[in-house]
Amino acid sequence: MSPQTAKKKSAKKKTVTKKTTKRRVAASTNDVKPKLYASLVVQLLSLLKDEHDFVANAANFSALLFNSLPNVNWAGFYFLKGEELVLGPFQGNPACVRIPMGQGVCGVAARQLETIIVPNVHEFPGHIACDVASNSEIVVPLFDGERLLGVLDLDSPLIGRFDDQDAEGLNELVTVFVAHEEGLE
Ligand code: SME
Repeated sequence: MSPQTAKKKSAKKKTVTKKTTKRRVAASTNDVKPKLYASLVVQLLSLLKDEHDFVANAANFSALLFNSLPNVNWAGFYFLKGEELVLGPFQGNPACVRIPMGQGVCGVAARQLETIIVPNVHEFPGHIACDVASNSEIVVPLFDGERLLGVLDLDSPLIGRFDDQDAEGLNELVTVFVAHEEGLE
């Protein structure tokens, strides 16, 4: 084998090794959020145990999210009252109290009855800025059967903080939360 061929062969081998390492790192990174959300489901169930006061449970739920999820500067609820969303229990800076249906990220998620992930709030038309530190946001609707109860809203100072894994984890958490409540008005 000429020295040149040997050099080429070893360069090829190096590239393959690099790719394998990269794939392994990516796989372990992808596990982090599902594991965190699975642990949050367990913690939420423990917080809800033996308590059925909706406001008290929503308050503890928002505190759990705010203190457990990295890079979150606001976590809380808006509840549907008539044609408006009204501020509920939350953690973070004081926020706007009333959001009309269809306005802001919360109002759009409530009207469309679907989770909305906003990687950059400054690019979302009509975004309602409650905290200047917020750069990305996720809003998850809450349902009692088919009926919309309101939304769970999380803000982050990081651009692109929330992804499909957050959407999945948060949807599971709100389902657990609502399923636990009795006699919702
Ligand atoms: N940004 C939201 C308003 C609520 S705050 O983020 C707490 C919106 O556009 O609906």
